[in-house]
Amino acid sequence: MTRVLQISDPHFGTETADVVDALLAFARDCAPQAIVLSGDVTQRARRGQFAAAQAFLERLPAPVIAVPGNHDIPLFNLWARWRHPYRNYRRVFGDSLEPELETPELLVIGVNSTRPARHKDGQIDEEQVQRVAERLTRAHARQLRIVMLHHPVRAWLEDDRENVVHGRQAAVAAWSAAGADLVLGGHIHLPYILPIGVGDPQRTWAVQAGTAVSHRVRGDVPNSVNLITYDASTRHCVVERWDHGAEGFGCFQRTAVALMGAHES
Ligand SMILES: [Fe+2]
Repeated sequence: MTRVLQISDPHFGTETADVVDALLAFARDCAPQAIVLSGDVTQRARRGQFAAAQAFLERLPAPVIAVPGNHDIPLFNLWARWRHPYRNYRRVFGDSLEPELETPELLVIGVNSTRPARHKDGQIDEEQVQRVAERLTRAHARQLRIVMLHHPVRAWLEDDRENVVHGRQAAVAAWSAAGADLVLGGHIHLPYILPIGVGDPQRTWAVQAGTAVSHRVRGDVPNSVNLITYDASTRHCVVERWDHGAEGFGCFQRTAVALMGAHES
């Protein structure tokens, strides 16, 4: 079994210390092969906030692949926003804003949906659509194929329609046709799973995560993370939402997502 832990929107600078500790304990317990971090690592892209994030990342028990969120670009410092928007982010995560992680049973492709010229909206360009689609076509049949970006490709609530990423229609159509299984996102601090893309029934899924450790929760939705479990021999995949509560992180919801090429059993 391959296990992937999705952590999103920790917004270091607004983190709750006991939730951070609970998440580290949960990560150790579930022993994932990879941890995917879908942006808004910090609240205001400050150096100290990235340092706090780095200290957290160093305590995680698996390799981490990350993409930036709109909060990882300076908001008030217009000079920094214009001249070197990702400087502090890159101190922690290195030069690539669109990294890739591959194992025999897993392919994670990062997409940078942030744009310094936009306030908080995200965008996917044609070049990104094509690059990711081309990479997906070279995936192995056994791999769980994940595309990760910060902004959602599909809204669940009417209120969130203004928060979905620009360029989503072309991106979802191309990536789904090229074999994407899951498109991971964050940004709106609301966890949900929806079928998207081409095919009937649809075999590509939008998987949204809540905020992992920030006190900036949305309404009564608590801190949460997603645990993705994948059996490469059958292509069976389960996405679990784990919410933070008095006893630490506990499983709130378990969704079996049907993938292309899954074996009946
Ligand atoms: Fe965001």
